[in-house]
Amino acid sequence: MRATRLRTEYLDRPLGLGIRMPRLSWNAEGGIAQTAYRIVATRDGAEVWDTGRVESPRMTHVRYEGEPLGSRDRVEWTVTLWDERGTEGEAVASWFELGLLEAHDWQAHWVTGDYTPKKNVRYPVDHFRIPVDAGDGIRRARLYITALGLYEARIGGVRVGEARLAPGSTDYAKRLQYQAYDVTGMLGGHDALEIALADGWYRGSIGCFGQTNVFGRQTKLLAQLEIDYADGGRQVIVTDDTTAWSNDGPVRFADLKDGEVVDVRLTPSYRGRARLAFPGPVPVASDNVVPVAREEFTPTLLTTPSGARVLDFEQNIAGFVGFRMSTRDGQRIRLRLGETLDPAGEFTQANFQKSKPVKEFGRVSEFLLMIDKPDLIRGELQATPLQQVDVTCREGITDYTTEFAVFGFRYALVETDAEIDPADFRAIAVYSDLEQTGEFTCSNPLIDRLVENTRWSMKGNFLDVPTDCPTRERLGWTGDAQIFFDTAASFMDVAAFFRKWLRDVQDAQVASGRIPAVVPLNGVDMMYTSTGAAVGWGDAAVLIPYRFWKRYGDEELLRDSYPLMRDYGRYMIDHAGPKNRRAHAGNPDARYLYEKGMHLGEWLEPEEFRDDPRDRSVSYAEEATAYLHYTMRHLAEVASALGEAEDEALFAEYAAGAKRAYRHLVLPDGEIDTDRQAKLVRPLALGLVDGDDRLRVEERLVQAVEAYRHRVGTGFLSTPFLLPVLTEAGRTDVAYRMLENTESPSWLAEVVAGATTVWEHWEGTESLNHYSPGAVCQWLFDTVAGIRVTGERRFAIAPVPGGSVTHASASYLSPYGSVASRWELTDAGFALTVEVPANTTAFVTLPDGAEHEVAAGRHAFATEVAR
Ligand code: BGC
Repeated sequence: MRATRLRTEYLDRPLGLGIRMPRLSWNAEGGIAQTAYRIVATRDGAEVWDTGRVESPRMTHVRYEGEPLGSRDRVEWTVTLWDERGTEGEAVASWFELGLLEAHDWQAHWVTGDYTPKKNVRYPVDHFRIPVDAGDGIRRARLYITALGLYEARIGGVRVGEARLAPGSTDYAKRLQYQAYDVTGMLGGHDALEIALADGWYRGSIGCFGQTNVFGRQTKLLAQLEIDYADGGRQVIVTDDTTAWSNDGPVRFADLKDGEVVDVRLTPSYRGRARLAFPGPVPVASDNVVPVAREEFTPTLLTTPSGARVLDFEQNIAGFVGFRMSTRDGQRIRLRLGETLDPAGEFTQANFQKSKPVKEFGRVSEFLLMIDKPDLIRGELQATPLQQVDVTCREGITDYTTEFAVFGFRYALVETDAEIDPADFRAIAVYSDLEQTGEFTCSNPLIDRLVENTRWSMKGNFLDVPTDCPTRERLGWTGDAQIFFDTAASFMDVAAFFRKWLRDVQDAQVASGRIPAVVPLNGVDMMYTSTGAAVGWGDAAVLIPYRFWKRYGDEELLRDSYPLMRDYGRYMIDHAGPKNRRAHAGNPDARYLYEKGMHLGEWLEPEEFRDDPRDRSVSYAEEATAYLHYTMRHLAEVASALGEAEDEALFAEYAAGAKRAYRHLVLPDGEIDTDRQAKLVRPLALGLVDGDDRLRVEERLVQAVEAYRHRVGTGFLSTPFLLPVLTEAGRTDVAYRMLENTESPSWLAEVVAGATTVWEHWEGTESLNHYSPGAVCQWLFDTVAGIRVTGERRFAIAPVPGGSVTHASASYLSPYGSVASRWELTDAGFALTVEVPANTTAFVTLPDGAEHEVAAGRHAFATEVAR
């Protein structure tokens, strides 16, 4: 038996790790059960740790407990496994390297361009240059670099590393990530380290209204190149006031959301000198994967009814645009990027653009924008985001690819007098470098397309932060992340990604315990602060660490997240009770009601069911009290697991109280009479009804679904629960009919309408790349294919066939290895093949109820009963 997929803190051979005593994990192959393991670790060839043979099946989160490690230490480690027969396997190797762990490791100085930024002025990209004379005998070289802004580094003209839009997105006042690169092979002779610095999240436009200068006005750079020689010497090359600088390079304007203005004929002169800057925060390791450029698409060319030329990349993505074509000196090519064509077949950006003042704005404008009254703002308005690139070409070949902006798009409107050939253009998807974990296919190609659309919406929104959409807002909305977490984890390994984001959430939590509705901070947008504790959104503080714990079996993350979770729970408790006592005088458990503060309700049900968000008289006590129960129940379980008995008792009291208060409020007679699906799904999904009440609500839900012709009537919060509660009610027939329904509103109506990503609104207005309704895919993995992780090295596989689906197949690369379930309907009934990874067991339940416990390997089952 041998170890595979060796990981250090969820990362494959991390360079620049910030965790001093990292935990090691692996999967196994070539045997049934691991009976023992041995890890041996060395640093510079000398042994620093040897566990000896440890009699244990454990394969995740084995903490490094060797000699203390420090900055820059590189540890090579091997793991050897013994199988069920006690046979020793071969040692398999991996490594990790620590980054700069202490503030004093940084000898570099923070520098800026040589200018003082003024209000209402945008500046070109800065260029910095440091000569590098590395000489011979290099043992290793590392570039440690970060910026308040976005940096792009080159050595000898070659781009350093794969990371895009580095250093990534955090609340820069509190946390700044740096990256470490192995540049050993890039040095030779007389080189230069050249670094471009753009606005990015730091001072470019961000959020729904494209606010600028949210974190500061002056972009800054910090870079340290360390060259170690075979003879033990070290040369350290840093940014300081001798660093050459100019801002006369090709990128005249760069903004994450608005785009780029580039004159490819220019090259930076480096005529000036950098200025020393007031230091930024001490940079920390992200311990995460970086955003990278991945799939490329070449378009077809359309001519719209008005004669406009539009490139159709045929897939809605978030990323860069590029072209390489022969051009004349000074010829201009402008590309505007959008997600869709309007009903007349013309290019449009109207589905995601808002307006904002041309001038930098403050609180008053922000308020007017928030209440959707931009016309009351004094002064000129402009559209936001612009999503465009404007390139001035050279004589000969112009080669352009976006660097400092990222767009949500499928179409590009081309404005130029040049001849264009679509083969010269490309769209490049940019997203965090997450390992794919899940695959699903079945006999219904529309469902398969829904799966791919959801995966694309995930790719379009997992860029260092889980965002809502890559166009209008591009913000880390807590609710969206919470709703999608399990689906995301089915598609890709999001452990390191969410650990990073949970740090952002911790950064954002205020003393009262609440968190803002978007994390990291994105300006002073009151909207995000005021809706921070909206149920379903703020609860991300509890639900994501909880689900992370269950999925990845990571108790340390749970413990580290506990202050965040607990304080959020206390915030809820502090705000429990009626807004208006008299209105709830008859409710004996009124103190466990939840309704204070701003709530968003179910959010984005189909239009006919939706509450008017501007109607102040709408009460969200139903949604909010339900979530008080749900969140408190999770907290009580976590407190119990962590041995926090007092907290557990308090949370359990509120969980029970909220349940009683909810019953009194929502179904005093044990019934809910509504056709609004969300109102019926919620009590079932969040555990608010039992016994006969439950049966009545289930029945009413089925009625409501039938009355709505099996279309989807839920919004953000209940959509992920809709099919699971029908399944639990024994009505998978109804669940499948909803899933497979192609009449709008439904998942497949979007697919039939040509969607290539998941839409925000069922109606297809607004953003077309919002993953949250795609959370239905979780049901494909855990119910249709029937794969669930039920504990450490344990799975349940219980496929549920139904609808028109005659075969389905899924695999999931779990923390314990890849598990698969493939079934088909046969003449004889039903046939299932499961694959269970080494050193795990699976509990298989067949549609006829037969149960089998199986060990690692491939197992086939057949039954006569299909459903
Ligand atoms: C965002 C969401 C978010 C919601 C909450 C929207 O504008 O795009 O996905 O969760 O606001 O208010």
